Amino acid sequence: MPVIGISAGRKNKVTESVVKAVLDGVKGDPTFVSLSGKLIRPCEACNGCVATNRCVLDDDFLWAADQVRESDALVFGAPNHFRHMNSKGLAFWERLCFSGRHNALFPLQGKPAAIVAIGGDGGAGKPVLEDLRRYFRDARLDLVGHVEAQGEYACFTCGYGSECAVGGFASLYPLGTEISDDNTPSIDNQHPHLPGSPCHHGSLRDEAIEMGKAIARVLACSDPGSPSQRT
Ligand SMILES: Cc1cc2nc3c(=O)[nH]c(=O)nc-3n(C[C@H](O)[C@H](O)[C@H](O)COP(=O)(O)O)c2cc1C
Repeated sequence: MPVIGISAGRKNKVTESVVKAVLDGVKGDPTFVSLSGKLIRPCEACNGCVATNRCVLDDDFLWAADQVRESDALVFGAPNHFRHMNSKGLAFWERLCFSGRHNALFPLQGKPAAIVAIGGDGGAGKPVLEDLRRYFRDARLDLVGHVEAQGEYACFTCGYGSECAVGGFASLYPLGTEISDDNTPSIDNQHPHLPGSPCHHGSLRDEAIEMGKAIARVLACSDPGSPSQRT
């Protein structure tokens, strides 16, 4: 099955755009799944998955987990919510890792995978990156690399962002600054001058596409039918 890209962020925002750009670099016919609007409950530690390595909570997780298991490689992106990966992403990985590990099955072992880590401030993708690195290690995925970027705080569109002293916009720009296309982050509009911003050598979109190409190279190397494997 093709490479799968999953976004635990909002629809049509930065997490999704970066995951999709990574998939553009993979080429072929990748699958994209947005967890936005999907119901993914946290692990209840019910042990219902022990015998089958399959979670028994019947919600949207089951379908998404099957897609991941059947894919050749995975790209997973999530935003920072209160200094760690958002709870949609955490719930997904709790259930994926717990259901997979019983009897040392580890169904994702060795699968190439990449991380997309997004935060509202310059460096705020870091905690998401660390969370996902831990889950990837737990699932025994083969980490190919990561892309970190600045996302768009919800305060950019809440209607009060420019004047709200405790909002994300005010953490970036002086109160009263007008919100405009120029200061709104997107995959094609990052603000590397902000403290702690990830350094994109060139454009974020290009960096994401390069990440996808790296995944494609790993897959080509492990495909016995690929030219690099033929003697
Ligand atoms: C409930 C909530 C909490 C957040 N907490 C933080 C935070 O602690 N630090 C941060 O940098 N951004 C925080 N953000 C901002 C998100 O990381 C940012 O909006 C990101 O772009 C969301 O990704 P998306 O637009 O792809 O969904 C928070 C957003 C929400 C909705």
